[in-house]
Amino acid sequence: MTDALSLDAPAPTRPDGVDADCWLACIDCGATYPPFAAVRYACDDCGGLLEVRYADLPDWDEFSGRGVWRYADALPFETGRTGPVDPENPAGVSLPEGDTPLYEVPGIEADLGLDRLRVKHEGMNPTGSFKDRGMTVGVGAVAAVGVDRLACASTGNTSAALAAYGARADLETLVLLPAGKVAAGKVAQAAIHDARILEVDGNFDDCLDIVQELANRGEAYLLNSLNPFRLEGQKTIGLEILERFRDEEGGFPDRIVLPVGNAGNTAALYKCFRELVQAGALARADVPKLTGVQAAGAAPFVEAIESGAEGVERWDHVETRATAIRIGEPVNAPKALPGVRETGGTAVAVTDEQITEAQRELAREGIGVEPASAASIAGLRELRERGEIDADERVVCLTTGHLLKDPEAATAASDDPEPVGNDVDAVLELVGE
Ligand code: F0G
Repeated sequence: MTDALSLDAPAPTRPDGVDADCWLACIDCGATYPPFAAVRYACDDCGGLLEVRYADLPDWDEFSGRGVWRYADALPFETGRTGPVDPENPAGVSLPEGDTPLYEVPGIEADLGLDRLRVKHEGMNPTGSFKDRGMTVGVGAVAAVGVDRLACASTGNTSAALAAYGARADLETLVLLPAGKVAAGKVAQAAIHDARILEVDGNFDDCLDIVQELANRGEAYLLNSLNPFRLEGQKTIGLEILERFRDEEGGFPDRIVLPVGNAGNTAALYKCFRELVQAGALARADVPKLTGVQAAGAAPFVEAIESGAEGVERWDHVETRATAIRIGEPVNAPKALPGVRETGGTAVAVTDEQITEAQRELAREGIGVEPASAASIAGLRELRERGEIDADERVVCLTTGHLLKDPEAATAASDDPEPVGNDVDAVLELVGE
């Protein structure tokens, strides 16, 4: 890990030759680039991942308004706009997004014997997943860099979000999906928002390999989480959780538990905490422990955490009912592994059965989530049962996508409808008087 990714890293200083308020920096070799001078997804010198850095990092009192753009002072643009992109005046493309509920879940909290448990439901965003937070910033960056075709590889939610934001920005959108492995609601979203949908005979990781090559050849602007601007938007999940938890619970949560696929969200939350520490807005001791959860059939990130490996080894064969996180190579691992380690968090794998049970538990509290989202609750339960999380911890679980994304999984997890005769007596006979 480079020093810049340490929680003790000093606040960045503006590099020579950059006069913008933010710039891109390589997390490996530290090379820096102006933010929008060229399309760039990786370091020219060493190929490392890039992240956005800022000359001024805001404190809590600098935020105003609601949703993602409440946090504009922590983002590369001053505002999000609801109209089409304007190359003369780059801004986020907003539907708007964020400001999602932080539910109380008294049943699960009591069952797990936890002091406090809240659920941040990102399925309540405009297209039904947290991806919208990334797209409002990432699609805004398109105007700034001057490309007119958007593209992503996706297990479904990224493509749904990109299609909607691409439509809003009036830009052509291309999505590559693993054939037969994307939940119906997500494909329907990409289709109705008029994305060109290409189904690849391969896994998500194969789709991403292709899209990266298309982007490198200048054929499209990449909006997977390798795009450093997208992760800036996703940072606001952390800002919202911390602000609301503090206001409602009188302090910051001890731990945030989230599902891991490409580890983009894990990386974004860690960056959020790091910048707050650098701004003096969060004490190092108050940084929540980042805790990642994967499905047992697609758990290369958990493997790396458990073995203490420096990097993640790609799994060529992955399988899980939680298709959103059916991913063999978490491409943001170089940013996310330090996040889990530096915050004192951990990572855990859960079975598909545990995921379905957690989905039903949340449903009993009135909260509808897709399987990948339920992994956070399943992972929390697993860690509680192993004794790795104490009863006095205050925990937030992130649920990343809406129930209706995957109607087949919901149906499979529940009782079948009962056929009944077309009269009252037949109904009463069935339900009992
Ligand atoms: N939960 C849901 C519902 C997702 O759709 C994803 C990722 C994740 C969790 C994992 O997030 O990649 O930041 O670790 N979905 C991507 C997609 C891969 O294409 O929609 P991550």
